[in-house]
Amino acid sequence: MTIAPPSARSSFRRFHRLRRSAALRGSIRETRLDPSSWILPVFIDARARDVTPIASLPGHARWPVSRAIEIAQRAAAARLGGLLLFGLPDEKDDGRAAADPLGPVPAALRAIRAAVPDLALIADVCLCEYTTHGHCGVVRDGAIDNDATLPLLADAAVAYADAGADVVAPSDMMDGRVAAIRAALDDAGHAETAILSYAAKFASAFYGPFREAAECTPQFGDRAGYQMDPANGREAMAEIAADIAEGADMVMVKPAGPYLDVLAAARARYDVPLAAYQVSGEYAALHAAADRGWIDLRRAAVESLTGIARAGADVTITYFALEAAEWLR
Ligand code: PBG
Ligand code: ZN
Repeated sequence: MTIAPPSARSSFRRFHRLRRSAALRGSIRETRLDPSSWILPVFIDARARDVTPIASLPGHARWPVSRAIEIAQRAAAARLGGLLLFGLPDEKDDGRAAADPLGPVPAALRAIRAAVPDLALIADVCLCEYTTHGHCGVVRDGAIDNDATLPLLADAAVAYADAGADVVAPSDMMDGRVAAIRAALDDAGHAETAILSYAAKFASAFYGPFREAAECTPQFGDRAGYQMDPANGREAMAEIAADIAEGADMVMVKPAGPYLDVLAAARARYDVPLAAYQVSGEYAALHAAADRGWIDLRRAAVESLTGIARAGADVTITYFALEAAEWLR
């Protein structure tokens, strides 16, 4: 039997025509990656004497305050958008250490602010790195006390704003924390400091490598009582709406890869800048597979970052930021 050439049908489209060369494909590409939209997570460790590699996050390290400027300079040279700072304190307590003006994050902020002016400096706000029990809120009688946590988060946010943070980013998932932080910042004369809320943050298995890096694994139970159920997309919209109403300047979906539908829905529904966090487990999984020769790290990383941008993220927090900026050169 003979088959009529497909071009005989008027509706037929020969898609291959525009895929015939790298130049053609590049000219019609819909989503372009831009390192200035990437934020690099950085761990500042008050106890580290030297730059200490993190086994679970290949290529990443815990930085002593005294050398924080070096990683900031690298990020600025790669023309990244900014840094997201996490702190490991000298000593963990009930969480108050998060607001210590001499703690690792304020100290690093002051040093970087003075030496590397071209980066957006974002300070993560949470208690889990600072508590002996590893939970993100105050624990009372074995349970998280949401409302008792708010003043501690607010104090930490003010301490980071005092030290020069452009943006504070609460990752704790306590209800009402954005309003509490906004009020405290305004009271302290920081009306210009922005809030990036981890608005739709899911109770994810993909945070494992981070918890090793930041020593914030909960010592009992899990975070399912305050972080979101991975199954809930509509509830994510409600979380985002609540945080915008409380004064969030930007909102985040976290993790990124398994939640691209949430990201796309948030993009369609809200007009505030939207961030995605490609978390530690997403990064570590790609590295582990690449180490076994099962995937090409560079192509897989660029593809994952492209998917996040295509889904609608304006800003992407990613452990690939430095190397991916290099790949795009
Ligand atoms: C803690 C926090 C976590 C991450 C950012 N802030 C871990 C958690 O909630 O347990 C995860 C980041 C990552 O996995 O890269 N508030
Ligand atoms: Zn936390």
